[in-house]
Amino acid sequence: MAKLKTPRWGWALTGSGHFFKECLRMAGDLDDVDLFVSKAAGEVVRMYRQEFKLPANARIFRDTTILAPATSNTVAKCVFGISDTLVTNVFAQAGKCRVPAIVFACDTAPELETEAPKGMVKVYPRHIDLENTVRLNAFEKTEVVESLEGLELALARRKRELHG
Ligand SMILES: Cc1cc2nc3c(=O)[nH]c(=O)nc-3n(C[C@H](O)[C@H](O)[C@H](O)COP(=O)(O)O)c2cc1C
Repeated sequence: MAKLKTPRWGWALTGSGHFFKECLRMAGDLDDVDLFVSKAAGEVVRMYRQEFKLPANARIFRDTTILAPATSNTVAKCVFGISDTLVTNVFAQAGKCRVPAIVFACDTAPELETEAPKGMVKVYPRHIDLENTVRLNAFEKTEVVESLEGLELALARRKRELHG
């Protein structure tokens, strides 16, 4: 593959309703971004009635990978080294190429308020979900963030590292 001159962001969206719209907006604000969308994310996008188009020139990521929002399903697969979907493969290949990754995990606390298509609901992530989030944070070159503010800060930090 040809080397890209401008470092590009690779943003992977999973089928998590939790902060889905906010993450979509944040990704849309970045220059030079390639989006990777899981099958479930494609369905969630329709349920939340979001306008969304994968850029025609979407390319393989280089430099920084962002996985946001990340379902408990995707986090679990990443933790166990499974790469059988577009998004988990982006994460695995980023790791193998020593490309830094930012993961915005949904399941970060035992009790959460989340926006379902028809309004707010309470969810109670299980022990296994919380444990996997902690495990992922221990991965090399992987930063797990737990809030939109954390995601914004992590992005700003990476932008500074890339562009000074
Ligand atoms: C409307 C809707 C909202 C969902 N929100 C979440 C969520 O906030 N967190 C989560 O872990 N899974 C959520 N799910 C379930 C995931 O979409 C499901 O586990 C899916 O298999 C994940 O696939 P992926 O990880 O490849 O995107 C939601 C599903 C639907 C239909």
